[in-house]
Amino acid sequence: MSGNSRAIQSNQSGLHQDLDKIVKRHLNSTFLKPVSEHTQIAFEQVMEFTQSRDCPVILDACCGVGDSSRNLAELYPDHTIIGVDKSDDRITRQRTETADNIILVRADLNDFYRLLAAKVNAQQVKIEQHKIFYPNPWPKATHIKRRWHGAPVFPDLVSVCNHIELRSNWLIYLQEFQYALKLAGLNSKIESIQVKHPITPFEAKYNASGQTIYQLKTC
Ligand SMILES: C[S@@+](CC[C@H](N)C(=O)[O-])C[C@H]1O[C@@H](n2cnc3c(N)ncnc32)[C@H](O)[C@@H]1O
Repeated sequence: MSGNSRAIQSNQSGLHQDLDKIVKRHLNSTFLKPVSEHTQIAFEQVMEFTQSRDCPVILDACCGVGDSSRNLAELYPDHTIIGVDKSDDRITRQRTETADNIILVRADLNDFYRLLAAKVNAQQVKIEQHKIFYPNPWPKATHIKRRWHGAPVFPDLVSVCNHIELRSNWLIYLQEFQYALKLAGLNSKIESIQVKHPITPFEAKYNASGQTIYQLKTC
């Protein structure tokens, strides 16, 4: 793994000035955009797989090539791991190595979270842990609404599961996410972590470059 990844450059030096307003607006409204067909189909496959296994479920959102899903599958052999990424190229790249307790799907989480939140709220499925490893940071201030906590789907993301773990090499992303979680009623802790065995390719890259890795966990 090469160690030449550059630290995040941003024109923000702290929380985005509109964060509070944006999150509150989303918490008080319903995201009505129609769900894409490919995500609806992927979601139904996930539900079928999950219900056929009847085990605790871990959601690995933005799983990229699925390495973190495979690592979680090994760590939690009695759980079902759902890996979701919107990139067909990434999600299909290492399919052959997939263990029995994983399902990896190509889906847009802006839609997938809403479908899943509806099932969770109807008590038709329970998510035990929700992992988001290295989401795209969108570091320009103008891109705040593309970050998960600035997106209209944020309330659904939160209602899927109370046990969230988020990792990033950009502390401001985690601090904003923490602020947004608080508005949604969840407390969390942020700390820097020492990584011995990287769980994802992005983690390996940042670690090899000597960057600090930050972890947020709800508590
Ligand atoms: C920086 S990569 C990290 C991938 C992986 N977690 C890792 O650490 O190696 C961010 C991933 O988020 C995925 N992603 C971004 N927006 C998404 C969305 N709306 N729905 C699903 N996946 C998305 C991208 O396709 C990409 O694979």
